[in-house]
Amino acid sequence: MINGERVGDFILAPGFTSRKRVQYQTYDVTKMLTLDNKIEIVVGDGWYNGKINFVVAENVPKALICQLDILYEDKTRESIVSDDSWLVSKDKLRFAELYDGEIYDSNFTDTPLSAIVLDHDKKIIVKQQGVYVREQEKIAPVSIIKAPNGDTLVDFGQNLTGYFEFTVNAKGGDRVAFTVCEELDKYGNFYNENYRDAKARFEYICHDGINTYKPILAFWGFRYMRVDSFPCEITRESISAIVVHSDMKRTGYLNSSSKLLNKLFSNIIWGQKGNFLDVPTDCPQRDERQGWTGDATVFCKTASYNYDVEQFFEKWLTDLKLDQGKKGNIPNIIPQTVCWDWSTTEDTGAVWGDSATIIPYQMYKMYASKELLKRQYKTMVRYLSYIASTTKKRYLWYGCGQFGDWLGLDAPSGSYRGSSNEDFIASVFYYNSVKIVADVSMILGKDSSKYDTLASKILNKIRSTFKEYKTQTECTLALYFDIAEDKASVAKRLNDMIRANGNKLQTGFVGTPFLLHALSQNGYSEAAYDLLLQEQFPSWLYSVKQGATTIWEHWDGKNEQGEFWSKNMNSFNHYAYGSVADWVYEEACGIKPLKPAFEEAIIAPKPTDKLDHLSAIIHTRHGKISSKWYHVDGKIRYEIETPVKTTIIIGDKQFVVDAGSYIF
Ligand code: BGC
Repeated sequence: MINGERVGDFILAPGFTSRKRVQYQTYDVTKMLTLDNKIEIVVGDGWYNGKINFVVAENVPKALICQLDILYEDKTRESIVSDDSWLVSKDKLRFAELYDGEIYDSNFTDTPLSAIVLDHDKKIIVKQQGVYVREQEKIAPVSIIKAPNGDTLVDFGQNLTGYFEFTVNAKGGDRVAFTVCEELDKYGNFYNENYRDAKARFEYICHDGINTYKPILAFWGFRYMRVDSFPCEITRESISAIVVHSDMKRTGYLNSSSKLLNKLFSNIIWGQKGNFLDVPTDCPQRDERQGWTGDATVFCKTASYNYDVEQFFEKWLTDLKLDQGKKGNIPNIIPQTVCWDWSTTEDTGAVWGDSATIIPYQMYKMYASKELLKRQYKTMVRYLSYIASTTKKRYLWYGCGQFGDWLGLDAPSGSYRGSSNEDFIASVFYYNSVKIVADVSMILGKDSSKYDTLASKILNKIRSTFKEYKTQTECTLALYFDIAEDKASVAKRLNDMIRANGNKLQTGFVGTPFLLHALSQNGYSEAAYDLLLQEQFPSWLYSVKQGATTIWEHWDGKNEQGEFWSKNMNSFNHYAYGSVADWVYEEACGIKPLKPAFEEAIIAPKPTDKLDHLSAIIHTRHGKISSKWYHVDGKIRYEIETPVKTTIIIGDKQFVVDAGSYIF
């Protein structure tokens, strides 16, 4: 703050990075200055020393570094730097913890003392690389509810990530206190046991008169708020929610004739907004909020259609590179936490670790940045060496600890891991990563032959070792990643499994993102649509019918009786299954890049009679592409707009067109 006014609008600066670096931000503050000026900076534990590290070190000094550069009218310069002439005091913000919330005492005062100057290695300070996190929108409560147990609840109608702002006329010492939750229990009462060890609370001590406040160093994932204390009756006018996320540009839009499907599209967008807060997190509410790599790996394609995420992921991939273990392993959480030090335990799960290859490659497809590939290349290569050094069988990724098809519904009782063969999953992703590195080598003008040879050896070994595909996920991976030799029979088997299961899926984090692609790319689009439009449990639309406003972690997060799956692992804002949107963009509406960044496109829509219309718009680096189909007079009409040379495939006909609008 300068002279009591906030500098800039970057929330939670300096952001969440590897412990090996801290970003600095620059602001032009000229207009904020008067003759006498006061700079105040509030610091807290934040991501660096909060419970998010699972071990909180006592007495870790909070620190800051600041420099004010002045250019006078006579062109002379002066720098005022944070040194021992600065004063430090305890703030009115008495407590701030990402999991637990904030306590603010507006009456608190402290006597400033001279600052303690820490001698810290300044080499870790780097220029801001990530996207700024900003306040995005304000949401008014949809209702104030009196719960059956007497609690007063504020319902914002949307599970969101951010904080809130309230105004109240109070007497000095009056308290405002809230606790937040995502869902109400089956009776309509407040429920936040699924936040586990995150207290998710807020407390404020009022001064006399009008108090207006919004939190400074905390954020919450929530839809409802329990009013634990408020000086007067709370009304819809006294409080609003403020949505906070990385300031990404929206690029993708989906729309259909089905209200439920449109709600799913909206939930996917909200899942991304809620979990793209400086790093891609698993969830924004419980005691995790971590950059789990596997979640980001399976969602990055959808994320890159919905929003421009190039800069967002560039920053995170730099942290991935910095936190890569000595042997090339990728920590399963990036930025790496203090207590789970994967750089020394050398533990990396397939899919999770493949964030090192899959995400930069996806960014290249969407934005064509060779620079990013160049920067990440060594990390990719070292990751492959790690797999080769850890596997128990050469040319496979075999016999190592894995997450498997995480949360697959075919999990044995008591397990989080679906019943698909974990060595098969790991080997398929190893193969895929080697193929990516081969392609990236070519793109960067390097010799790819070593990786081409390795890929074909891995493929042969997978084929000779895993002869049968027993689960939906195994069939899906065998098809999508070109493992199956007889694709027609595997596709038929997958289709039969789904039909025999009542048009219902059983897949988890690993199978689900590829399931619909595997079906529609092999002649079974209708089965893909049946899964997409399935309304009974387990399905995407089941959660929508249960009132979801974001994507659930579990297919069975809440049953039809309104009972919760478990308090241990039950987030209602986990974007992984939202990855189905990339199937809608790429297959149902048919838009794909033929050359990186859509310098050339392919549009091959796959319509169905199960929807009246479906459309996608993508704002690419080369302009707006749209693909819409709808039924009219017993026929299907396609409306396509493209800014670039495009191959349009309608049924078995192919047209190569230049930029323009086309109707078929
Ligand atoms: C997270 C997941 C993550 C998983 C891996 C969970 O606690 O919420 O999304 O990928 O752990 O084990």
